[in-house]
Formats: sequence, C-alpha cells, structure tokens
Amino acid sequence: MSDLPRPGVVERLTSTPSETEIDAWHAVVTAAHRHDLPAGVPGPGRVETAGQLRVPAARSRIVRLAVPSPDGSGYAGVALLRLFDDDVNRGTAWIGRLAVRPDQRRRGIGTLLWEEIQTVLQQERRESVSLELEIGSVGEQFAKEHGFTCGLQLVLYVQRIADETAPPELPAGYRFVEWTGAVPAAHAALFAGVRNAMADAPMGELDQQPLQWDAESVTAAQRGFVQRGGLLHTVAVAAPDGTYAAFTEVGVRSPGDVRAQQYETAVAPAHRGLGLGRAVKLRMLQVLRAQEPPVREIGTHVADDNGPMRAVNKLLGYRPERSVGIFQARMPEECVRLLGA
Ligand SMILES: CC(C)(COP(=O)(O)OP(=O)(O)OC[C@H]1O[C@@H](n2cnc3c(N)ncnc32)[C@H](O)[C@@H]1OP(=O)(O)O)[C@@H](O)C(=O)NCCC(=O)NCCS
Repeated sequence: MSDLPRPGVVERLTSTPSETEIDAWHAVVTAAHRHDLPAGVPGPGRVETAGQLRVPAARSRIVRLAVPSPDGSGYAGVALLRLFDDDVNRGTAWIGRLAVRPDQRRRGIGTLLWEEIQTVLQQERRESVSLELEIGSVGEQFAKEHGFTCGLQLVLYVQRIADETAPPELPAGYRFVEWTGAVPAAHAALFAGVRNAMADAPMGELDQQPLQWDAESVTAAQRGFVQRGGLLHTVAVAAPDGTYAAFTEVGVRSPGDVRAQQYETAVAPAHRGLGLGRAVKLRMLQVLRAQEPPVREIGTHVADDNGPMRAVNKLLGYRPERSVGIFQARMPEECVRLLGA
C-alpha cells in the first residue's frame, strides 16, 4: 500500500519525508512550473525538491503541508512554510512553496493550504509572512485575494555563460580567495565579516531583515546548501589588510541543472567603486565554465531600486527574463495580540 496519506484534509509531512512523498510533492511543483512559467525557464530538479523538504534553510524550521489528491494519485497541492528562528526575523515567516496541480485548481485547495499556513503563523505568533510571485500570474491574483501586497519589486535576469569573457582584474594588493562547498574554517570569520555588508541591500517595505552573520552561521548556511544536494561556489576578494572586501556566491541546486542561481554578491562599503563587484563575478564565470557538466546560464534577482547591482549586471550581459515581486501579508492584529497575551 502507498505510504501517502488519506485524501481530503491538509496533512503535515514529517521532517523525514519518504521517497514516495517526495515524488508526489515533486510531481505537483513540476506540473505547476510547466503550466505557469515560460518554456525556457528550467524547473526544479528532484534533488532540489528532496533537499528543500529534508534540510531546513539557515536558522529556520520548516512546515511541510500537502493536500492529498481526491483520486488517490499523490498530492493535489503542497505548501512549504519557513519559520525564521533568528531574533530579527522571529516575527515573520516565508512561504517557500504554495502550488496546486493545474488540473485541481479553482476548487479551494490553495485556500485550504493558506488557511492552514495562517493557523501555524498564529500559533507561532508571527505578525507577517512573505512569498515570491510572478507579476501577472494566477498566483498574484490569488495572493491579492488573500490580502497580500507587493513589498519589493524585482526583475529576474539571466546571463548566458559565453565561451570567453574578459579576465577579472583586481586593484594592486587585492587577491581572490575561493572555495566550493561549505566555507573552510580558516575563511569563515572573514567571510562572515564581508557577508554582513549585504545589510544595506534594499528590502523594500518587507518585515524580513538581513541576517547578521558570524563564523558559525555562515558555515552552517553553506553546509546546509551542500546537504540539500547542491553545488555551491564562492569567490571572495581579500583586501591588502587581510579582511575580505567582496564576495559572490553561485549555487547549482540539483547537479546537472543548466541554470545556476546567483545568491549574494556584496562589496564592503570601504571598498566600493574599485571594480570589485565586476571582478568577483568575472572570476565566478571562469569557475563555472570549468565545471563538468558545464553550467550554461546564471539567474539572478535584482531589486528595481538597486541601481549599482543592475549596472554591474548590465556590463556582464544579463538580460531581463521576468518580473517578480515579494508579497507580504499581515496577520490580523487581534489574533497576534490574543495569542501573545
Ligand atoms: C495560486 C494557486 C496556489 C491557487 O490555487 P487554487 O487551488 O486554484 O486556489 P483556490 O481555488 O483556493 O482560489 C481561491 C481564489 O483565488 C483567486 N484565484 C485563483 N486562481 C485564479 C485565477 N486563475 N484568476 C483569478 N483569480 C484566481 C480567486 O479569487 C479564487 O476564488 P474563486 O475560485 O472563488 O474565484 C495556484 O494557481 C498555483 O499553484 N499557482 C502557481 C504557483 C503560485 O503562483 N504559487 C503562489 C501562490 S500565492
């Protein structure tokens, strides 16, 4: 007999979902992806789905919700809620996934999942929750219907990795430091220092705040990515005084993915204007080109009002692919007050 739960209600998966549960979850997210996104946008790999379900992101817990399909074939809809555990974000949360199988839509399944998410948020005393949506999608219609508003507008840019690019150049006295996988212990504290330079990236009107990093948390975050089955590359720049002045991080979520994901890129305020943002990204292209199988493109999100990052990406040949927004909903105040009393 299948180990999938009974149809009809929202089920909570454990922190160790079975292979059958992962397959059923993956079938929903890939069907939704094929239905909702343009054909050229690569979907999530099975390794990525399994990793997301099994290994929580840094300083978070995850809640995995699924509505079994009425015909007994897997799930009709799934949702993944990330509950931040760090002090600055303990009042908010993130919906990493909310998807209903295309043939099961407009039957209230999305609403059922959203109601269950709200129950968890109230139990956890979260005042708000956010998620990323395609502008103009059915998801946006659904989210607006349920009280979400756009707090940050972003454009997703894609860069094809050319066979050759200009070699990176560093100012005198600066040098590259790079690694694949989790940050080696010798670099962890210096890496945390430059990572905190992200704290001034625009966050729009969202409650979620940039995390503060130390050696332990940067190591745990990078190790988590690797435990989720992904490949992670980091290029940093050491300044003449030995501190780290810049870094960029690119991940391949499932081995064999043709599109890598650009994560953070930052230059510490004291070292801005020296071309380090461009240099770390050019060096990263060399690293990616050397991978087997080769990565063919990189996708990155940039906030509309982040002029400096947009300028660097333009120089590197990024083209805009689609517009997305981070939408946020607030929990009704009485619920939070009552539970907080
Ligand atoms: C968004 C999504 C989860 C909705 O799932 P669903 O089960 O079809 O949603 P429901 O049946 O509960 O719809 C509730 C309400 O949302 C709105 N809505 C949902 N789909 C809509 C659409 N295609 N166009 C306009 N409004 C829509 C309607 O107001 C609907 O109520 P109604 O059917 O009585 O008119 C689903 O379309 C999906 O998986 N989309 C792709 C993934 C995504 O965008 N996820 C983020 C969601 S916030």
